[in-house]
Amino acid sequence: MENVVVGPLDLAAHVDEALAVQAVAFGLGPEEVAIRRQIVLRHLALPGARALGAHGDDGRLVGFVYGLPNDRAHWWSSVVQPYLRRGGNDHWLDESFVITELHVLPEAQGRGIGRRLITAITDTASEPRSILSAIDGETPARHLYRHLGYRDLARPVHFPSATRPYAVMGAPLPLLRPGGLPHPAAADRPGNAERPE
Ligand SMILES: CC(C)(COP(=O)(O)OP(=O)(O)OC[C@H]1O[C@@H](n2cnc3c(N)ncnc32)[C@H](O)[C@@H]1OP(=O)(O)O)[C@@H](O)C(=O)NCCC(=O)NCCS
Repeated sequence: MENVVVGPLDLAAHVDEALAVQAVAFGLGPEEVAIRRQIVLRHLALPGARALGAHGDDGRLVGFVYGLPNDRAHWWSSVVQPYLRRGGNDHWLDESFVITELHVLPEAQGRGIGRRLITAITDTASEPRSILSAIDGETPARHLYRHLGYRDLARPVHFPSATRPYAVMGAPLPLLRPGGLPHPAAADRPGNAERPE
């Protein structure tokens, strides 16, 4: 797996392959995979939903990301909204691109693939900011998100279906480049002109 190519992914057509990656990376059992499958397919029917995949030399999917513009009427948004409001961060739900899933197979992790996936998908978003939820702990995902400029907007956040608490994080777009450097075009983006606290 020398070369990994990141590009558009028809996630509806490859949902089982993607969920197999997620099952290994995130630790999902067959029942959770079946539930996720319905949720993913429902999300993909929503306006602006997009996915990218990372493929190895042999054509195998080793990672994927998908997301969509936030809509306050969506379930995820309605759960996190009261938590964000409490901290004065409610405005992050407007004009925001939500990262719904990001997963890389364990054997492919630590090689910059996760960073490439999330950076590529948000670079093509028209929204000035991005939000997501991640398990509230010192995980590789939380490290990655912080390196990209995401900061905590609310924690702990309790989803009705989850046993573990989450953190909601947000970042202005475009995301930071390696070394914490801003993207050269960052100053031109409206989200950075009025960079939220
Ligand atoms: C989170 C995840 C997608 C990251 O993918 P990855 O390809 O390993 O990440 P990268 O190699 O692109 O790492 C990017 C940055 O995160 C940091 N990072 C990655 N793994 C790390 C770890 N274990 N500890 C600390 N930092 C870590 C890297 O140092 C790197 O930082 P830098 O480029 O600014 O120096 C991957 O670990 C994963 O699939 N985890 C399980 C599923 C999961 O938790 N998904 C997120 C759900 S919210």
